[in-house]
Amino acid sequence: MTRLLVTGGAGFIGSAIVADAVRGGYEVRVLDTLRADVHGDADAAAAQVTRLGAEFVRGDVRDPAAMDAALDGVEVVVHEAAKVGLGVNFQDAPDYVSSNDFGTAVVLAAMDRADVGRLVLASSMVVYGEGAYRTSDGRIVRPAARRASDLDAGRFDAVAEDGSSLTPELIDESFDLDPRNVYAQTKVAQEHLASAWVRATGGSAIALRYHNVYGPGMPANTPYAGVASLFRSAVARGESPRVFEDGRQRRDFVHVNDVAGANLAAIAAISTAATSSWRVFNVGSGAVHTIGDMAAAIADADHPPVVTGEYRLGDVRHITASSARIAEELGWRAAIPFEDGMRAFASAPLRAAAQ
Ligand SMILES: NC(=O)c1ccc[n+]([C@@H]2O[C@H](COP(=O)([O-])OP(=O)(O)OC[C@H]3O[C@@H](n4cnc5c(N)ncnc54)[C@H](O)[C@@H]3O)[C@@H](O)[C@H]2O)c1
Repeated sequence: MTRLLVTGGAGFIGSAIVADAVRGGYEVRVLDTLRADVHGDADAAAAQVTRLGAEFVRGDVRDPAAMDAALDGVEVVVHEAAKVGLGVNFQDAPDYVSSNDFGTAVVLAAMDRADVGRLVLASSMVVYGEGAYRTSDGRIVRPAARRASDLDAGRFDAVAEDGSSLTPELIDESFDLDPRNVYAQTKVAQEHLASAWVRATGGSAIALRYHNVYGPGMPANTPYAGVASLFRSAVARGESPRVFEDGRQRRDFVHVNDVAGANLAAIAAISTAATSSWRVFNVGSGAVHTIGDMAAAIADADHPPVVTGEYRLGDVRHITASSARIAEELGWRAAIPFEDGMRAFASAPLRAAAQ
């Protein structure tokens, strides 16, 4: 029986992976520090992991001794632990870098010591920054970051150098990385650390670049939560979801159970990798929707979405991925349609509010 260590396995995505892995016959250990700003009720979070059938260890991935103990008998590490989201302001930067970059370095060094050579890493679509666009004469371009003056004037869409409009396109894994905020920078650094570990140790790693993940167990309203959680939390308070910009920002919303399935496919592939290897995969539903579509799908009739025109400078306008590579190479495709997933999400429980 393959033994897995899932770091951050008490979290939103981690616990869905744990549930699937236990069902799939893996023996699973979770190492999670139960961050106070994401787990309102630490005891409940620990108990939930145990209920799923995994061993729970409370500890920090940045602690080498905790990592050494957690790796005992483990063959594959699924590294989900991270500080997520856009954050409040730049004062969050040290915590992002410590939790995500330093944390990953400690995980990889411990794997090297323990001779554990197989890693599945949670990455994100944020590594790409702004999406890809096609110009009117057919060229693919990646526009620079949007200027505050344009956003203030309600000019949300990037335009070509000559001022003509651009058509959003899907991005695949061959595109350059262009992180636009501190969190995105840390996800790029995690990938680079993992690929350096592969070269240095002969290990094998897969990084999964998740698109916007939603589903039951999402953290409730916090500055670090994804947009689906912010809207869902507003609905739970009996308020209208407040939609930034004009609501036409394009994203790919992928259900957490589908993301868990992608991880299981990656674990199976990495477990049998014959030679040292490094591969990245986009993980999306394959369907493009706007932020406004998502707000409308989960709002109730008495509290329809309100489009505010506000913006956050770190946000990108459009980012949508092609998930063709993971379908072709690992045989994984998302199975839960947007309409079904959002209908259920509209009344699904969120994780206890953060303190
Ligand atoms: N939610 C999304 O839409 C999304 C999209 C792309 C990528 N990701 C990535 O997926 C992974 C999981 O995210 P999530 O949405 O489940 O977040 P989450 O906050 O629900 O889960 C993260 C878990 O990691 C734990 N953790 C944080 N720092 C730790 C540390 N130093 N040591 C041990 N445990 C620690 C937290 O307590 C939490 O349980 C992260 O790496 C995140 O960057 C998430």
